[in-house]
Formats: sequence, C-alpha cells, structure tokens
Amino acid sequence: MKRWFIAWCHKMINNNLWYKNAVFYEISVRAFKDSDGDGRGDLRGLTEKLDYLQALGVDCIWIMPIYPSPLRDDGYDIADYYSVDPAYGSLDQLKVLIEAAHQRNIRIIMDLVLNHTSDANPWFQAARSDKNSPYRDYYVWSDTDQIYKDARIIFVDTERSNWTWDEQAGQYFWHRFYSTQPDLNFDNPRVQEEMLNVARFWLDLGIDGFRADAVPYLFEREGTNCENLPETHVYLKKLRSIMDEHYPGRILLCEANQWPEDVRPYFGDGDEFHMGFHFPIMPRIYMALKKGRFEDMEEIMRRTPPIPENCQWCTFLRNHDELTLEMVTEEERQWMWKEYAPEPNMKLNLGIRRRLAPLLDNDRRKIELANSLLFTLPGTPIIYYGDEIGMGDNLNLFDRNGVRTPMQWDDSTNGGFTSGTPFTEMVQGEYSCQKVNVAEQMKSPNSLLRTIQKMIALRKQYAAFGGSDMEWIETGNPAVSVYLRRHDDDVIIVFNNLSNAIQTVQIPAQYQMTGRDLFSNQSFSLEQQLELQPYSYYWFHK
Ligand code: NOJ
Repeated sequence: MKRWFIAWCHKMINNNLWYKNAVFYEISVRAFKDSDGDGRGDLRGLTEKLDYLQALGVDCIWIMPIYPSPLRDDGYDIADYYSVDPAYGSLDQLKVLIEAAHQRNIRIIMDLVLNHTSDANPWFQAARSDKNSPYRDYYVWSDTDQIYKDARIIFVDTERSNWTWDEQAGQYFWHRFYSTQPDLNFDNPRVQEEMLNVARFWLDLGIDGFRADAVPYLFEREGTNCENLPETHVYLKKLRSIMDEHYPGRILLCEANQWPEDVRPYFGDGDEFHMGFHFPIMPRIYMALKKGRFEDMEEIMRRTPPIPENCQWCTFLRNHDELTLEMVTEEERQWMWKEYAPEPNMKLNLGIRRRLAPLLDNDRRKIELANSLLFTLPGTPIIYYGDEIGMGDNLNLFDRNGVRTPMQWDDSTNGGFTSGTPFTEMVQGEYSCQKVNVAEQMKSPNSLLRTIQKMIALRKQYAAFGGSDMEWIETGNPAVSVYLRRHDDDVIIVFNNLSNAIQTVQIPAQYQMTGRDLFSNQSFSLEQQLELQPYSYYWFHK
C-alpha cells in the first residue's frame, strides 16, 4: 500500500477521534447573546460570539435544547423535535451558525432528548385524547400506579411519584422527570424509529453529534430499578451504527448519572457512545478542595474501569443543573450540603444549585486549582458558559434558573447581553456585570479568563492530557495530588496543592527529573523537595 495512503488513513482516523483532545463548552442559547433586542439569547447572537469562543480555544460547543417547548424544563420538554423555537431563530440560522463555527474549526453538538417529550407535544396530545390513536402507544400507560415501584424519583423536590393520572386519557402515564414530561415508550418499534429519524434530521442539517439526555431510563421492566437495562444498549448501539455508517466523525456523548462501572457499558466495545460524562469525579473535586486532601478523587479514579481506545470520559466542574450529589454516599452528601449549601435555598433535589465561583468563595486560587484538575485529569473537559470569567448565580430564581443567567459580556446595562429587557433578572452585587465581565478580563493579562485561555492552550498542546494514561505518584503528603500523564515519551507530572497551607513534596527516585513548569516556564529539578503555596499547582513537563 502506498505510504501517502496509509498516512491519509491515519489522519482520517485521528480526525475522527477529534473529541479526545478537544475542549468543550456548554451554552444556554437563551442566556448567551441576544441579537434582536427581545431579551432572549438567540442563534444569531451565538454566531456573533464565535470569535470569542475561538479565541478562548473551544473546539466543540454543546447547545442546550432549542426546540419549540413550553419551557417547563427549560427546553428539555420538547413540543416539536423537527424545528427550532422561533425565539432562538430558524433552521436556516442554525445552518449559518454551524457553517460559521466550522469555518473556525469549532463543532456543535446539541441535546437529543430521547426519553421523554413535553406534554404539549402533539404526539402526547393525540395519545391522551384517543385510545385508538397510533400515538397512544408512544407513551407508557397503566391503570395502576403500583408498577415499577423500584424506580427512584429523580426530581424529589417536585415529584411524588413517577406516575401521573391523566383525566383525559383515563389512565396513569409514566414519567421519570416532571409530570409535564411523559416518557416515550421504547418498547414500541415506531418510537424507536421516530427517534432515529430525529437524529438523522439534525445530522443531515450538519450538527456534529448529540449530548444524549437521560439515557439510562429508556425502558421499564418490573422488578428492576428501570435503569441501564440491556434493551437500552441494544437501541443505543443501533443509533451509533447509523452514525458510523452515514455520519462518520460525529459523536454521541452520554448523560448517565451513574457510577463509573455502570457507565462503562455505555461505551460498549467502542460501538455505543464515544464519550460519557464522569459524574462521580465532580463532587470529589469539591470534597478534596474543602478537606485539603485528595484521597476521594484518587479512590474514584482507581475505581474507574478502562474504556475502549476510541472512547473518552468527559469531565466538568459545573453544568446547567444543580451540582448533583447522587454519586456520593448519604454521609458525604450531608457533609457536602453542610459545607457548600449553608443556606436552605442553595439545596435542590439531591444537589446544590450554585455556580463555580460562589461555591469556591470567589477565591481565585481555588477556582484556578479546580480548573487545573479539570484540565489535567483523564477525560475531555467541558466548561459551563460564564465559569471562565467566574460568573455568580441568582438564588432568587426558581429551581436551576439561578445558574442560567445572562452571559456578562461587558459592564454596560444588562452586561452587553441584550439591548432590550433580559428574560430574567441579571446577577447583582459581588458578581454583577460591573464586577465580572468578558471585556474587562480580556484586557487584563492576569484575569481568570486569560488564565483559563492559557490552560486550554496548554491542554491542547500536549497529547498526554487527552489520553487515558494516568499514574498516581505516592509522596506521603495527603494534601498534594501528584499524577503523571504520558503520551509516548512526553511526560507531564501534575501537582495540585489542595490545602490552605504551604506544602512540600518529595517524589520517589524513579520520577525525579529536570523540566519546567508549563505556566511560569521556570525550570527546576524534582530531585529536590518541591514547595507549593496554598492552592497552587504545577504542570511539570520533562
Ligand atoms: C438532564 C438534564 O441535564 C436536565 O436539565 C433535565 O431536567 C433532565 N435531564 C430531563 O430532561
């Protein structure tokens, strides 16, 4: 075979693995940038801001749902799977956005909400009003609410049961989330096909893949907890095979808020999801920072099974939901609430509805350290919009809306988000747009934004970060996590001082080498003891 052909094949394969060395960025379109003064962010506004995202170093944007929706769950309740809510723009504007993003080497994935629809969806309207409608069997109905009792309730603060009586239908319908979000019936082959068509529709339009919402709950089986059932994997593999065959290079990102060993099957043999969120590492980063010890992080990483070569974990510090505490023990949850949610209105369901900066006392050192972990642990990092400038939250807003406030672009009225009246109250006080905004931080070389930009650039420069190779280095100091990331001969040793005290570490002889810190460019030898200031970090490169 010709050498150029082999090289070309390698390039194509690597290209298809683009997500392994990428940096992702999650956006609420409604809260990002309004282009027409109606107070709601839109696709045009986001398109205008692509230069910002490119300068930040973002490779892929995940946009939260933009489908028509009554917004009972901020768009995760979809009334029409085949169009864009006019408040955000049109299908054509989405195409323009995708094209403009691609010109900047940025990809765009969107939410694929398979598990449930809105009750305003015409499918559900038809289903509830006519027993003989072909749509009746699109949903899960029952004459009794006494089945599937072993399925937990997810939105514990709002829902009492996974069954809701529907007067019009004369039956109960099944829902894992709000009672305005009836679950689809995946036992119905027509539902299965319909949702594959939905995926095809957006892929044909040019979208680069999906963040697949709530996948553990697609099927229900009596006597189980109705999560992670084998049928689910059969279906998801079907979706994947369509993508591989017709849309190579596009990806599926799995939202399964589960333990690592339970997420592992979602990668299959490299033939199901390309990526999966690593939920349990997230709260342990906050635990480590508060305890000044890294043991919980190490424990969960050691417990994380290997995944196929073409797969990747996805790491995050915050997202649009509450900081979920589902993947910790009851005792740890109570501790996290005590430490991070001292006011009752900071709690939500089994989590905490606060943003990154307020959680970390707006302490620049802690925010940087959390990001140092995010960018150096195995997995592809996702930044939640606004966290790169240290935006705050608004606890007066209902449910999770408090962490979905308008992006703060500058210090003008409404933070440069809109020329009209914003769809929601802007954040005030310590985190107001006068104090926290992009324009200001762009100007200052030492701002948080500039530091994150540098972290992103370094992260992408060294393939070691994107791989799965990780080795914990024992130093006997419980306050400083030390781990080695490697790609071929390229070695990076990451030091994170999780405590509020100066720490020293001495690493074992076999790791002692000379190199430099990637941030300061300062050279030093690891033969000597290394001293770390409180909450400081080194990314040491040989
Ligand atoms: C997970 C999403 O992240 C969350 O925002 C939503 O409420 C549920 N899935 C239901 O779609």
